[in-house]
Amino acid sequence: MILVTGGAGYIGSHAVVALLQAGQEVVVLDNLCNSSRESLTRVAQIAGRAPRFVHGDIRDRVLLDELFQQWPITAVMHFAGLKAVGESVRDPLRYYQTNVAGSITLCQAMADAGIFQLVFSSSATVYGESVSMPICERCPTGIPTNPYGQSKLMAENVLKTLADSDHRWSIALLRYFNPVGAHESGLIGEDPNGIPNNLLPYMLQVAVGRRPYLNVYGDDYPTPDGTGVRDYIHVLDLVDGHLRALERLALGGGVAVWNLGTGRGCSVLEMVRALEGVTGRALPFRVVARRSGDIAQCWADPTKAERELRWRATRDLRAMLEDAWRWQRLNPHGYQGDVEKAAAALAS
Ligand code: NAD
Ligand code: UFG
Repeated sequence: MILVTGGAGYIGSHAVVALLQAGQEVVVLDNLCNSSRESLTRVAQIAGRAPRFVHGDIRDRVLLDELFQQWPITAVMHFAGLKAVGESVRDPLRYYQTNVAGSITLCQAMADAGIFQLVFSSSATVYGESVSMPICERCPTGIPTNPYGQSKLMAENVLKTLADSDHRWSIALLRYFNPVGAHESGLIGEDPNGIPNNLLPYMLQVAVGRRPYLNVYGDDYPTPDGTGVRDYIHVLDLVDGHLRALERLALGGGVAVWNLGTGRGCSVLEMVRALEGVTGRALPFRVVARRSGDIAQCWADPTKAERELRWRATRDLRAMLEDAWRWQRLNPHGYQGDVEKAAAALAS
């Protein structure tokens, strides 16, 4: 049985579907601070069976001990965490407490329960502003420009020293590039609270008419069209990488770092044109000043994961945008809307 922390969230819910479909038993621990119970109802609809659900916090040691006693858990996929960069600048302690201290509490409870296999959600943000592209795992980590990024780097360092101190640990540090897209059913996807920070959720809200236009943060970067370049990866490819990492952990072997990206960069304007191609609608945008803390470009060298995990991202940008668009049309108000009504309206 696999414990999935943060399993009601965007990436976690897709991972739960993949685990259930692979025949695993799953228990989700989530405090629902950035998600809703509805995502797990939809997960059950897709997978044909439901995960167990525990409503609670990764920082609650008593709850973790009970959970590990109650279920025969053999490994943990640890997605739970806070991820809003701007919020982390305003409230850094909350970010360190959840992302760093929460991860420590989880590892302490795991060790006491004799569970030593952990897949951790890290981020390409730990590389800081890398000078050369693509970024491989040997590239030095940088100084993240915000407390969110620092919390991910700190958690990585905690986990590395933990694995060095006790060879029973087997830990995968998965550095995600830019996860986008949704399950092809359109039933689960990213459901940001308030104004989206990330590019694609914002573009989708413009495309469905919830916002008038996209702000393009700068067109004077040293990139082919002047806008920021990122490595967007389909969330289903990303979770596939997690399942491969999980298989690999069962073989033992300390700590390993893997980039999960496609190896291809795409600019903001290329994203705009590609989404217009998928929706058949013009996407209004305005170029505004650069966003503070943004880097010009960032894309992965994914060859280490290809070699060691036999994993490769297979879905192209069109599939990412078509799946994201399906989710957005069926659920214009995220999990708060009624998907059946939306589906009927789309069909008529
Ligand atoms: P998300 O916010 O959708 O999911 C995180 C889940 O964790 C939510 O369901 C939330 O309710 C839960 N959670 C938060 N604090 C908790 C706590 N203290 N106890 C229990 N549950 C808690 O985010 P996501 O996009 O699915 O991201 C998952 C992980 O991947 C995060 O750790 C994030 O930092 C990391 N990551 C995400 C991205 C991205 O662009 N989405 C990129 C790199 C890394
Ligand atoms: N952008 C816009 N307008 C917007 C939002 C974004 O032009 O409204 C631009 C940004 O300037 C950047 C690109 O679109 O050039 C991508 O921005 P995102 O906010 O979608 O993604 P980031 O690469 O800035 O950051 C994301 C996550 C981080 C994570 C990082 C690496 O938000 O948490 O990917 O995984 F660390």
